Amino acid sequence: MIDLGRNYMCGITGYTGINQAGPILLEGLRRLEYRGYDSAGIAIQSESKKDEAGENGGDNTSCTLKMLKATGKVSHLADKFEAEPDFKGVCGIGHTRWATHGVPSDTNAHPHLSADGKFAVVHNGIIENFADIRAELQKYGIEFKSETDTEVIVQLLAYNYKGNFKKALMKTIARLTGSYAIGVISDEHPGTIFAAKQASPLIIGIGIGENYFASDITALVSNTKNVIDLDDGEVAEITPDEVKVFDHTGKEIDKEIRHINWDIASAEKSGYEHFMMKEIMEQPHALKATIEPRVKDETIVFDEIKGLDMKKFNRVHITACGSAYHAGCVGRAIIESLCKIQVEAEVASELRYRDPVMDEKTLVIVISQSGETADTIAAMKECKYKGATVLAIVNVVGSSIAKLADYCIYTWAGPEIAVATTKGYTTQVALLAMFAVWAAGELKTISHGAYTSMVIDIMHLPERAQRALDLNTKVKKMADKYYDNQSLFFIGRNMDYAVALEGSLKLKEISYLHSEAYAAGELKHGTIALIEPGRLVVALCCYEKLFEKTVSNIQQVKARGAEVLAVAHEGNRSIFQEADDVLLVPQTDPLLVPVIEIIPLQLFAYYVAKKNGCDIDKPKNLAKSVTVE
Ligand code: M6R
Repeated sequence: MIDLGRNYMCGITGYTGINQAGPILLEGLRRLEYRGYDSAGIAIQSESKKDEAGENGGDNTSCTLKMLKATGKVSHLADKFEAEPDFKGVCGIGHTRWATHGVPSDTNAHPHLSADGKFAVVHNGIIENFADIRAELQKYGIEFKSETDTEVIVQLLAYNYKGNFKKALMKTIARLTGSYAIGVISDEHPGTIFAAKQASPLIIGIGIGENYFASDITALVSNTKNVIDLDDGEVAEITPDEVKVFDHTGKEIDKEIRHINWDIASAEKSGYEHFMMKEIMEQPHALKATIEPRVKDETIVFDEIKGLDMKKFNRVHITACGSAYHAGCVGRAIIESLCKIQVEAEVASELRYRDPVMDEKTLVIVISQSGETADTIAAMKECKYKGATVLAIVNVVGSSIAKLADYCIYTWAGPEIAVATTKGYTTQVALLAMFAVWAAGELKTISHGAYTSMVIDIMHLPERAQRALDLNTKVKKMADKYYDNQSLFFIGRNMDYAVALEGSLKLKEISYLHSEAYAAGELKHGTIALIEPGRLVVALCCYEKLFEKTVSNIQQVKARGAEVLAVAHEGNRSIFQEADDVLLVPQTDPLLVPVIEIIPLQLFAYYVAKKNGCDIDKPKNLAKSVTVE
């Protein structure tokens, strides 16, 4: 599996120099707000005091570590800072947290302090073996305060510390598996920050008599444009006058200083013009974050739903809104196919008022990126009232839906800022597929061979998503050709139809063009009357079992003058005889096709909207989180 890391959750920053660290750290955190977060915090080394014994690794002074944390906005943290005139120091670290392990709270917010108060850490990433390390340290009597995976880093560091900061840190990170970008300060080493990186981003900013680190350029760009990119496995020792970088063996290495010329706005979007494009491009990373921690030895492991007994249910009901509902339509097909259980999918705004027939033998799956959608919450309450068990698939940790559900699986897609969901949708579908395979294993409705083959295909999704992005560099050309069609159709059968629903919604919500998704075989029952010369029909042709059938529908619309843009698998030669234009995606298991097939359609919607001059990230009349009925 390709190593894509998880580079979007949380933001970290650090400063050491001659100026007060507090305001600089807060400004850095404000710049990182765009990444999405639910709490924030800073730690500083407060005024130095003389270390008479001179015992501290060569330094003859020490200091006290002070922390401030706040749930919610960085502005809350800034208010707390203003109220603490003694919160002074010239070296510190800061963090915006997007919860993954443990709800958003002051206790779970970073920085985390070691039990002896000697070290403070900020961390972006996920420590996969945190439970083992935590259990081990607890045996030595070390008490943990938070529910986070991060706290093990700082407790282990304090445990390993015998006077040499660098040695203790190297020993600590050698134990960690997963991803991390960390910044650490100690009360015994005034002015020194250590930073380390593995599969999460971290850059060092070079100033004059002051140096910085951060998750990305945004937090640094107003202070310096000279940066060092830390690579995986490397450790940096940052002091006001010097930055030393070491490889994983501890040997000092030379690093190049890079000059950047981005302004703040382009830095926030990692150089992309819009968050939507950034999030489309993040999908391989997001899928990896969703999938990888839940696969062990080709087996799907959901620690989150231990105790969920699939044998108790005689049917499954999926409910959600918008794109999440479209993900549910895909989920219905996968669960039915693998688990041989009756599954329905229904929009939450209908289900909530329908008096549905369900009882304690019904499993309801609710899907929501934000976890705050009013209709979805109301529908799930109705289902719970009727005795159903509710399993939520949610992106935002600690959201209302996550809390109300009996069980919750997080997609871990990272914050999604653009109103039009992209990585939110693909990670929902991937998780539904994983759930279906897991449930089929529990119900024994899948053979060992089919189970393993599905798991392998699921694990390949991140690199196939990357391939779909790489293959579709010409989508912009297609958008330039078709952008002024005022009304168009998306057609497909089975899985392709489910993707048509999402492709059509993507286009209409950001480009304001009228578009409809149709089950390809249904066109001739009325809608074909609307097909006329020049009308664009986007034909989804990846569900190969029904390819020939979809081809006849293509021929029917072409006979009436339509232009056809097809999406098909790489290697499908015959589609070029049928369609005017073709977008290709890599092969995958038929049940997983939607994760990959939607990608060129997201790009198509993006470029059509751009060509039409639309406000892509904030389309008119829409909100990211629909908390009203
Ligand atoms: O946060 P949710 O997933 O519950 O939101 C559901 C819909 O409002 C959402 O998917 C909406 O359709 C998106 N704008 C689609 O891109």
